[in-house]
Amino acid sequence: MKEIFIEDTLKFINKRVTLYGWVWNFRDHGKLIFFDLKDRSGILQAVIDSTNPGFQILKKSKYGALKVEGIIQKRPENLINPKIKTGEIELKVEKLEVLSSSLIPPFPLETEGYEISEELRLKYRYLDLRRERLFRNLLYRHKTILFIRNWLTERGFIEIETPILTKSTPEGARDYVVPSRLYPGKFYALPQSPQQYKQLLMIAGFEKYFQIARCFRDEDPRGDRQPEFTQLDIEISWVEDQEEILSLIENLYLDLVKELFPEKKITKVPFPRLKYQEVIEKYKTDKPDLRENKNDPNELAFAFIVDFPMFEWKETEKRWDAVHHPFVKIKRTGTKKDLIEKLEKEPQSLFAFQYDFVCNGYEIGGGSLRETDIDILIKVFEVMGNKKEDIEKKFGHLIEAFKYGVPPHGGIAPGIDRFLMVIFNEPSIREVIAFPKTGEGQDLMMNSPDNLDEEKLKELKIKIID
Ligand code: AMO
Repeated sequence: MKEIFIEDTLKFINKRVTLYGWVWNFRDHGKLIFFDLKDRSGILQAVIDSTNPGFQILKKSKYGALKVEGIIQKRPENLINPKIKTGEIELKVEKLEVLSSSLIPPFPLETEGYEISEELRLKYRYLDLRRERLFRNLLYRHKTILFIRNWLTERGFIEIETPILTKSTPEGARDYVVPSRLYPGKFYALPQSPQQYKQLLMIAGFEKYFQIARCFRDEDPRGDRQPEFTQLDIEISWVEDQEEILSLIENLYLDLVKELFPEKKITKVPFPRLKYQEVIEKYKTDKPDLRENKNDPNELAFAFIVDFPMFEWKETEKRWDAVHHPFVKIKRTGTKKDLIEKLEKEPQSLFAFQYDFVCNGYEIGGGSLRETDIDILIKVFEVMGNKKEDIEKKFGHLIEAFKYGVPPHGGIAPGIDRFLMVIFNEPSIREVIAFPKTGEGQDLMMNSPDNLDEEKLKELKIKIID
């Protein structure tokens, strides 16, 4: 295992070091070869002379993976390169070993990469990821998640994993499904979010839950949308006021930005809480870009959009649908009887304890307080066009669980990918995900989705219809 990364070599001037890395840039000067040695932390100029036995080996295997030993020395004043961190030093190679040789990469790796076709970049993603920009994005993704984990843990939250093989839960997209071998003709659904599980964990008494959760949604990918993505999923019991959740998230993001992205300026603190209807009227969108100066790459304009309507009319399906999801708590104006009447007669008049978290014109999170009154919940399912027997089939487990002392609860799920895309001013969330799908939903490197062998189809009792 390596002990010294290239960025550490500045501390080793006039000392012998052993370094591992790739040949990045190769300049043959006849008697001397200059090359840059690269690892994940940076590049270092190395020089080897023709009397060294490693010289000929290096000439043959240009781009390979190397182990090199040598002395870190200061460069003469006139050869200092201010553009790189190690520009004042170089490695004088004494011993060189090629650990594996390399083909010439199909595209340049030392550029930002935006100029290269995305198909090619994703096909050779393992090379594309050697790019400094992508390494930084993934390093800060790790740091962000670690920060969040620690911050929430310090405040009494417990991270709990919920199943990936599960049952459909409505979040407004299509489900990805997995055929069951043991129950031919039956299917698991991959979770669009852990929504129902996290609510069940509140009944189970965990009180403060979070999860860095993978979610799967079969919808057309866009710049800010992937078929699989990651949420910071949160649910809290004994919440009586949605403001408790909004201020928790506000404090988390303020601390996170201060710690990891200190160069960023936040437009307004506290984050504005804006009513949905007013925002729609003023900005014609529910995710307004509230930056004061839209050309400033370091400005973050966070806001919460609150008080969404509970339902929207789906013209194509000729039915009411929940704006967020059916588990949202509806705002009360009168008695329970009044509410049931409104659900039956004028669902469009109802508002919900639902909020979106937005930043620079993107929806970076969404959540709500949850309905815990079973009668209201069943009515909501009915308004959305579910028949009595379907409600039992789809949501019977939740309704049953709610009979066992369900605490008032609520939560939120900020998208991790979208936040990082905004932070790094990236044009797409693909730039902050290690192995994303293309805009057409394919993994070009693994060649997925792919056909299944006849054998496997048989085992699953599945026939392909042309
Ligand atoms: P919602 O469906 O609003 O809420 O999703 C929450 C956040 O997840 C991110 N997101 C996505 N990111 C990338 N690609 C996608 N396809 C994608 N879809 C959503 C967004 C979004 O704001 N269970 C509820 C949360 C709750 O009620 O607690 C939920 O999933 O940033």
